Amino acid sequence: MSSNHGFPFQDQVSVDLGKRQIPLKIAGTGIPILFLHGFPLNASMWETTIELLADQFLCLAPDLRGFGSAPEEHKSFSMRDLAIDCRDLLAAKAVRQPVVVCGLSMGGYVAMQFANDFPDLVSQLVLSNTRANADDNAGVQNRLKMAASAVTFGTERAVGEMLQKLVCKFTEENNPNLVACVRQMLLSTHPSTVAWAQLAMCKRTSFIEKMKDWRFPTLCVAGTNDPITPPSVVERMQLAIRGSRYVEIANSAHLAPMEQPEVFASELRSFITEHLH
Ligand code: MLT
Repeated sequence: MSSNHGFPFQDQVSVDLGKRQIPLKIAGTGIPILFLHGFPLNASMWETTIELLADQFLCLAPDLRGFGSAPEEHKSFSMRDLAIDCRDLLAAKAVRQPVVVCGLSMGGYVAMQFANDFPDLVSQLVLSNTRANADDNAGVQNRLKMAASAVTFGTERAVGEMLQKLVCKFTEENNPNLVACVRQMLLSTHPSTVAWAQLAMCKRTSFIEKMKDWRFPTLCVAGTNDPITPPSVVERMQLAIRGSRYVEIANSAHLAPMEQPEVFASELRSFITEHLH
């Protein structure tokens, strides 16, 4: 995505974890925020959010396995593997204080897994356009179909129809550049990544019970017009997390941080600063 603000400077680096290289967007200094992208997107989805927040926060946005400029994956992986990559990435970048973990949709699943597995590394959680429950049988079947379609026919045929669900009418009418950019992100995802990520998501566990014990300040964000994770689904998750806050962003669907970046960034900034210890 092109930069609207030009400052603060965002660096694109490759972090060597020994077994793998993780492409990372990094900008700013201060309280660390780990931004985790959705499916089938990549770290570029956070560029504007990072530009808006890097004056106060150290923003880190990796391309998860196989996505964006990460090398193509040839092996299956799980949400736990992605959470471990995030832990190793933070260690490699010498981020020693607990981080705010902010995940959108699939990135939210990784954020929940990370919070569950590495609670000492988390200061706050932001769960945007995501759900805490696992898939039902129909959901699993749809994922298997999408995985097979990606491998057989390619990414466009497998994920093409998702585009209309990701952004709302308001965005379509007022921000054609964003729609083009999201389309490009979708279509540039390797078919194998589409398939492996679908298999990883259909094996994920539910966090609804586990999150009742979580004590991180948590912000749950919904898009008013999101057909993938509708406000009622996000609210259900929010009600399971003690002391969490629910925010609904108007004129946005599944990509609230991209469709309404100023509103999203401002909600994030206020929440994080209000909950500093
Ligand atoms: C996403 O946006 O990451 C996907 O909608 C997640 C999913 O397929 O459950």
